[in-house]
Amino acid sequence: MKRPIRLDIEQLRALRAEEVARFNARIPRSNALYAESRGLMPNGVPCSWMAAFYPGTEIFVARGDGATFTDVDGNRYLDMTQCDLSMVCGFGPAPVARAVAERFANGSHFLLPTEDAIAVCRLLRARFGMAAWQFTLSASAANTEAFRIARRATGKDKVLIFSGKYHGHIDETLVRGDAGGASEPDHHGLPRGVEQRTIEVPFNDLDAVERALKGGDVACVLAEPVMTNIGVIHPDDGFHAGLRDLTRRHGALLIIDETHTQVACFGGFTRKWRLEPDILTLGKCVGGGVPIGVYGLTADLSDLVERNTEPQIPVDGKTLAIGGTTYGNALNMAAARAALEAVLTEEGYRRVETLGEALADGIDSLLARHELPGRAYRLGNRSGLCLTDTLPRNAAEAARCISSDLNRWIRPFMANRGVWEPIYIHGPSASFAHTAEDIATYLSAFDEMLTRLKSTALRA
Ligand SMILES: Cc1ncc(COP(=O)(O)O)c(C=O)c1O
Repeated sequence: MKRPIRLDIEQLRALRAEEVARFNARIPRSNALYAESRGLMPNGVPCSWMAAFYPGTEIFVARGDGATFTDVDGNRYLDMTQCDLSMVCGFGPAPVARAVAERFANGSHFLLPTEDAIAVCRLLRARFGMAAWQFTLSASAANTEAFRIARRATGKDKVLIFSGKYHGHIDETLVRGDAGGASEPDHHGLPRGVEQRTIEVPFNDLDAVERALKGGDVACVLAEPVMTNIGVIHPDDGFHAGLRDLTRRHGALLIIDETHTQVACFGGFTRKWRLEPDILTLGKCVGGGVPIGVYGLTADLSDLVERNTEPQIPVDGKTLAIGGTTYGNALNMAAARAALEAVLTEEGYRRVETLGEALADGIDSLLARHELPGRAYRLGNRSGLCLTDTLPRNAAEAARCISSDLNRWIRPFMANRGVWEPIYIHGPSASFAHTAEDIATYLSAFDEMLTRLKSTALRA
């Protein structure tokens, strides 16, 4: 491995203070609104978690349009994160806007299906291959229901996940493991003993998976095809085939979470690599900007759901704990149908992948021109700066390839130049609304950032 990019953290913090001060002077109206909102909402935001995402560039937004959005002070930003990939259709995509307006005017929910549901399931089946589909309002809720189905199907309790994962705010996945196999809750507010329901092992380590499965108490393995929440970690050749084989041999279900990776290629990696999950989970962009969660089931599991939900009351009188009064609503189905039919098309994916490649090629060539180590991540529409020349294989390696200090400076630096950066564990991504010019705009700001970084904030 060649040397990594070595950051001068003190210098980065000083540079950050300058950029934050400059940014603050541009957002008087946002600052006034935060002064008002702090007494009304924890952290001044409608979901207190929001406040963690963009430190140093806290704004109130007025409107979005395609690949850009504008704050209440009139500053416009090129959006390189799309709300953590939930808005990759762009802001206000016309086909979704029309479908949602029409559906809403004619009733948005009935606790009964509309015909759009059939169309959405057909579209999802054609691209991801799963036989039957269910809907929630978030990917977190889709994963939660997938766990419950897995427990009912296997009669086992535990879930196995991979270090560096994020699958939503679900008790079992907010647990962190260590090399010795012990787990502990990673957050407050979780029920005592939750860590006993989770096993965490390193990605790309089939031996560790097998050791865990041999215990005979694992209901399911939950994995992203490519890990996306600690930079990007690609699977080794044979990793997914091994995972499928081990889960089958040890009687655990395999849940593939394509919430993020669905954006990288049409039909996700489930289609591209012919993965054979028992349950496939999705959310975010499927709704074209309307909140949604989705999961696909094999025919057998669909049958199990039918046998364990009303009107077929199971012999023990208890039903499977899935569902919600607003899940699968008519508005969701209309939005998802329009997004899948008219925005998230095969042709659209080809275009976005080309933009993602241009982004990665641009980052690589800028690193070379500045004679810096590191390399671009490559994942369909998404790229980003990997601080080492060697791509990571697991979370421990991945943690050395990203830097929150670097991102805390880049964020206000880019925002002052009209570009909205992702959080540090992610990288910039192209949306279905981006153009080649947008990618060039991003790379020009990235070039300026590297020039400044090289001249002021690197260690020898
Ligand atoms: C891979 C993955 N799965 C699930 C989720 C949960 O999505 P949501 O917060 O929309 O429920 C996320 C969120 O970032 C994710 O990255």
